[in-house]
Amino acid sequence: MTQEGQRVVLRRHPIGALRPEDFSIEAQSALAPGEGEFLVRTLFVSVDPMLRIFIDSAPLGGTFPAMPPGTTIPGPAVGEIIESRHPNFHSGEFVEGRFGWQNFAVSNGAGVNKVNRALGGPANALSIGGLPGFTAYVGLRSAGGVKPGQTVLVSGAAGAVGSVVGPLVQAAGGRAVGIAAGAAKCAYLVEKAGYAAAADRTAEDFTAQLARALPNGADLYFDNVGGPMLPRVLPFLARGALILICGLMDQYQGEDRSGPDHLPALLRAVMGKGVRLQSFTQAGQQALRPAFEAEMAALVAAGKIDVPLHVEEGIERLPYALCGLFDKAVAGKVLVRVAAPVETTTHSRIVEETS
Ligand SMILES: NC(=O)c1ccc[n+]([C@@H]2O[C@H](COP(=O)([O-])OP(=O)(O)OC[C@H]3O[C@@H](n4cnc5c(N)ncnc54)[C@H](OP(=O)(O)O)[C@@H]3O)[C@@H](O)[C@H]2O)c1
Repeated sequence: MTQEGQRVVLRRHPIGALRPEDFSIEAQSALAPGEGEFLVRTLFVSVDPMLRIFIDSAPLGGTFPAMPPGTTIPGPAVGEIIESRHPNFHSGEFVEGRFGWQNFAVSNGAGVNKVNRALGGPANALSIGGLPGFTAYVGLRSAGGVKPGQTVLVSGAAGAVGSVVGPLVQAAGGRAVGIAAGAAKCAYLVEKAGYAAAADRTAEDFTAQLARALPNGADLYFDNVGGPMLPRVLPFLARGALILICGLMDQYQGEDRSGPDHLPALLRAVMGKGVRLQSFTQAGQQALRPAFEAEMAALVAAGKIDVPLHVEEGIERLPYALCGLFDKAVAGKVLVRVAAPVETTTHSRIVEETS
């Protein structure tokens, strides 16, 4: 069986803020799986901020090679296998993998996960059961886990990753405090996402809110945004706290957004309070998948996690959805549906985007 569809490619390396014109849509050539491969029809495609790094002309200051224009945008997607010549993957199975921004993909199974129905419908395999959920899990593990009574401060807390950090911290007996933009997202954190308290980064009394939420300081700062938020939270870190860099959302659209040099304040915290700084990546941590899925399934079954999904319709919406992530007004995970849904389950709560 062969299929034809569309794919979204990089048209040019973005300069500063992303624009939809940085991408173009092309017809996809017919694909057929070879021996040991399978063909996937994608249903939902994930929209992830880290893509902004990968499509830059000098990713993370040139740490990675630049992606040539014309390349299909990479990233996680969920789909249905429609033809298989692979012994362990079968037609009709739902799988999550780095299938990219395209209607069809051929895979040899590397890095592909079968959709775990204990984590909800297929779309949830890109949220709590996919990259954001796994990132939250691996991040807390890389920090040595959360001990009962410890306080974890999270920036970008109402995003896809932060929405999973809260329930994981709560389940470990810790106390999660979230930073988000606006009262609605802060209410979401406390009422739905396992956070003990939240601070509104757009409020005039943000610092006072942090002080109230962190009477004994934070033992761990799970940082999703970098930029000028870091010096603002330094006074609220406990002695010996760990700053865990998950991502630098504030800096992806251009280093000049970082503003003035905050290194002296960070170094004072390192020397004066024994604060430590480290990063982590979920990449290469596949061995943790079984433990991760078991823990997430327990949270789902107990009704302790429910991350809203914001679903846009049609492959042509992908560039717009990615651009919109950087001033996203909603809490939860953003996806684009590129083919008709096959089912919904009680755990797949789909909230339609209103834009
Ligand atoms: N280390 C890894 O292996 C790994 C893997 C996947 C993702 N990541 C990283 O994890 C981070 C979160 O990803 P995600 O999927 O949760 O993204 P997301 O759903 O887009 O959420 C990110 C949140 O960051 C906040 N934010 C955005 N721009 C900001 C700015 N300029 N200043 C302060 N806050 C800002 C927003 O919340 P408010 O506006 O409400 O504050 C937004 O909800 C990203 O940096 C991503 O690159 C890391």
